[in-house]
Amino acid sequence: MVIRAARESDLPGVFAIYDREVLHGTCTFDTVPKTEAERLEWFRADGGGRYPILVAEEAGRLAGWARLYQWSPRPAYARAAENAVYVDVAFRGRGVGRALMDELLRLAYAAGIRVVIARVVEGNPASRALHEAMGFTTIGVMHQIGEKFGRVLDVRMMERVVE
Ligand SMILES: CC(C)(COP(=O)(O)OP(=O)(O)OC[C@H]1O[C@@H](n2cnc3c(N)ncnc32)[C@H](O)[C@@H]1OP(=O)(O)O)[C@@H](O)C(=O)NCCC(=O)NCCS
Repeated sequence: MVIRAARESDLPGVFAIYDREVLHGTCTFDTVPKTEAERLEWFRADGGGRYPILVAEEAGRLAGWARLYQWSPRPAYARAAENAVYVDVAFRGRGVGRALMDELLRLAYAAGIRVVIARVVEGNPASRALHEAMGFTTIGVMHQIGEKFGRVLDVRMMERVVE
């Protein structure tokens, strides 16, 4: 498996993985797939490399992706970022998420990010386990903060200090 920077040509594969969760899962609170133009905007919002997008490729197939997002536009929050990590169903439970997160945290540190935040919906044991395995700890739980498919959802805030 190769972990590398995402290219624009990876966008169909990246969003094939993501849109499944947008349309059928509660791990993302997006509910509508992005348009072509929005995908490009998403790809280009990397803050000049500060918020990298990575893909995991195995035998020419996109197995997963991960990225950082700006946590807040307020300058004093510049040392914080939020993460996202999505693995194709066919590749789950084989260390892809961990490999993506390992590299993402390395790049975060190199870019001067010192805290990575994760928002994990309650009832997503895989994501919680992955983040805990990567050294994230729980800050707290936001109760009844979201609603998707008619279900009111709690969200666990997690953080990892990167040093
Ligand atoms: C969460 C997700 C990215 C994990 O990716 P993955 O490649 O399957 O995870 P890995 O195989 O690298 O496993 C990482 C750790 O999490 C644990 N884990 C993975 N899936 C698990 C599950 N279903 N239940 C419990 N633990 C699990 C593994 O045991 C492993 O721990 P270890 O390294 O200490 O043994 C993947 O399940 C996914 O894409 N889910 C849907 C999208 C999502 O929820 N993204 C996160 C949004 S916050």
